[in-house]
Amino acid sequence: MASFNLLVRRSTKARKESRYPWTLNIFIYVVLLGFTSGLAFLLERTFTIDAFLTQQPNGVPGHASVLGGLSSQDMIWVQTFQQAKTGEQESFIADLFNIKTHASSLQHPYKNHSVFIPELFPEQLLPGAQGSGSFTQSDMASVLGNAMNSPAVAVTDTPLGKLVRWPRWGIRVACRSLPDPALHLVPLSPSNYTYLYLPYSLIGSLAADLQLQVSIPPLITPWKPSATLLRNDTLPAGLDPSTIYTAYVTSDDGSPHVWVFFTLDNGTSGKGWTLVDVHMVRVKTAHTPNGSFLATASVNGTQIGYDVVICLEAVEPWIVEAYNITGRSPYTTRILEPGNTVGKLNGTPYPGVASMLDSSNISEAYLPPIFSARKDMTAESKGFNYYPSPVMVKFAGEGGALDGGAYTKLSPSSMEAVIGSWDASRALPYLVGTGYITAETREDRIIGTGAVNILYLGLVLGGTLLVGIIADVCIPRLPGGVPLRDFGVLSSITVARSALRRLDEVGRAPDSDRPGPNQPDSDAERPPSSANTPPSPGLGPEFYMDLDELRKKIGDVPTGAQIERSTSPLLDKP
Ligand SMILES: *[C@@H]1O[C@H](CO)[C@@H](O)[C@H](O)[C@H]1NC(C)=O
Ligand SMILES: *[C@@H]1O[C@H](CO)[C@@H](O)[C@H](O)[C@H]1NC(C)=O
Ligand SMILES: *[C@@H]1O[C@H](CO)[C@@H](O)[C@H](O)[C@H]1NC(C)=O
Ligand SMILES: *[C@@H]1O[C@H](CO)[C@@H](O)[C@H](O)[C@H]1NC(C)=O
Ligand SMILES: *[C@@H]1O[C@H](CO)[C@@H](O)[C@H](O)[C@H]1NC(C)=O
Ligand SMILES: *[C@@H]1O[C@H](CO)[C@@H](O)[C@H](O)[C@H]1NC(C)=O
Ligand SMILES: *[C@@H]1O[C@H](CO)[C@@H](O)[C@H](O)[C@H]1NC(C)=O
Ligand SMILES: *[C@@H]1O[C@H](CO)[C@@H](O)[C@H](O)[C@H]1NC(C)=O
Repeated sequence: MASFNLLVRRSTKARKESRYPWTLNIFIYVVLLGFTSGLAFLLERTFTIDAFLTQQPNGVPGHASVLGGLSSQDMIWVQTFQQAKTGEQESFIADLFNIKTHASSLQHPYKNHSVFIPELFPEQLLPGAQGSGSFTQSDMASVLGNAMNSPAVAVTDTPLGKLVRWPRWGIRVACRSLPDPALHLVPLSPSNYTYLYLPYSLIGSLAADLQLQVSIPPLITPWKPSATLLRNDTLPAGLDPSTIYTAYVTSDDGSPHVWVFFTLDNGTSGKGWTLVDVHMVRVKTAHTPNGSFLATASVNGTQIGYDVVICLEAVEPWIVEAYNITGRSPYTTRILEPGNTVGKLNGTPYPGVASMLDSSNISEAYLPPIFSARKDMTAESKGFNYYPSPVMVKFAGEGGALDGGAYTKLSPSSMEAVIGSWDASRALPYLVGTGYITAETREDRIIGTGAVNILYLGLVLGGTLLVGIIADVCIPRLPGGVPLRDFGVLSSITVARSALRRLDEVGRAPDSDRPGPNQPDSDAERPPSSANTPPSPGLGPEFYMDLDELRKKIGDVPTGAQIERSTSPLLDKP
């Protein structure tokens, strides 16, 4: 009966008077539970994990064989070319180089000059490829297969990328203007020829520019003036024939760009070969308002300017690194150092695979492609007598318009760049045929990284702190001040009980003839033991009611000695 009254009272009067409805406590508790469960989720969002594919330039090398040289089979066409050239079968040579290889060339600064190499051709690192040097290219089109038949390849079967290192042929070029042109250049001789004398000292200084160890080999038969001079022509006055390495003569036939090259070192050392590359310009001064020349001469009544630059071209082996990955063409990443072999290997890994690039028996294979490349260089000036071609304007280092009028003067440094790039692109690819060479490979590695987003982590931790403070203030506490932290049935009951207790205290507060709920003016408010121990759980203070109210409700006073003694001061004062 008493508990029923209590329930009625709580559901009517007491609830209205409560400052904090107990449902609010429960609501906050449930919100806190939700937040606690979500905390791990929120913290996970502040952490990002990524996987990367990284190259390993310093990793442990493996070995592979790559297409990178000429085989003895490839050298057969060199003989054919030599015969054609001797027999002046120009059309045969033209046909041989009909389908020109034109790789893009790569430049790498090395000491005071640059190294030029051709980029790999797309199939070079695939099995069964053949380079231009095999001369197997034909004008026949490849027949396309049915694309629908291509098999599906699992991603996990796709090999990782590899850095592949092997020696490749590269070019270095040094150029200089012809020194002392009054002595070494005869623009128009009495017999209408142009003479050019190349002094030993020039070739020596070019070799020093490239820091070539080779001493200049004397020609098999030392140069004699009679070998060059035609008709009644004579040496320029004051020229000492013993200072001349060799001389070049050409008729003044109107061609604006005259070239000649000859081998200085034919590569018997095995570590490359060198060519002397001579370029002479003959242009009508009227065409070039800003031109300046080493010498001028009047040819058939027109004023012609002459300029000469001599270059030394060294073809040497360089250790080059390339990156090979499925799904794109391999590409060169860097030139590492001079060298004709990667590491020392006990024997060769595969039969027929060379362990080093060796120039001793292939240097003559360079002559046909360089001859073709030079013919290519002057092809555009054919038919334009004494008029500067676009290549000549580039030689002069003039950017922008390649109109002949822009020609100024041959610039040795510009010529180094133009010739190096030209020959790397057009001649060097022919040094790769069907020969295989040993390479070092370094496979990629997959690495993972984790990173914390400081902003998000700060927000989550700040939010946690804030909620924690709110929780500390608002969360219901168990009797005895034990914080309530779990979500079980008992806890929920305890939460509700604690809230009910507060309701009680609040509900009593308006009966204002007492100082406060916590300072009862009567011992009847307390259980007998309350002075020493807190109430045990389950026996909360809601079971203790005001005696007046109790009397009103019940109308009877128990006769227990304890109660009689304690109520006597209030009720009867005998
Ligand atoms: C060059 O000589 C080496 C050793 O004599 C030989 O193995 C190689 O096949 C030769 N190369 C060519 C292109 O003939
Ligand atoms: C490189 O150029 C610098 C400055 O022009 C010069 O001092 C140096 O001797 C050159 N080095 C070589 C190897 O030619
Ligand atoms: C050189 O050319 C000029 C002009 O064409 C001519 O008069 C002269 O006879 C030629 N000299 C020789 C030696 O052919
Ligand atoms: C060359 O000189 C000889 C005599 O010294 C002379 O007879 C001849 O005509 C000259 N030839 C030319 C092309 O000048
Ligand atoms: C001069 O012109 C004539 C006729 O056009 C030509 O045959 C001759 O080769 C020219 N001489 C020179 C040195 O160019
Ligand atoms: C280059 O990659 C292709 C495709 O993954 C592979 O077939 C070839 O064997 C690789 N070559 C080398 C030398 O690693
Ligand atoms: C290089 O020249 C030397 C003579 O100087 C000759 O004996 C040798 O056969 C030549 N080598 C080649 C590959 O041409
Ligand atoms: C010659 O040089 C001058 C001054 O440098 C320049 O204004 C002019 O355009 C040049 N002429 C040609 C044809 O390039």
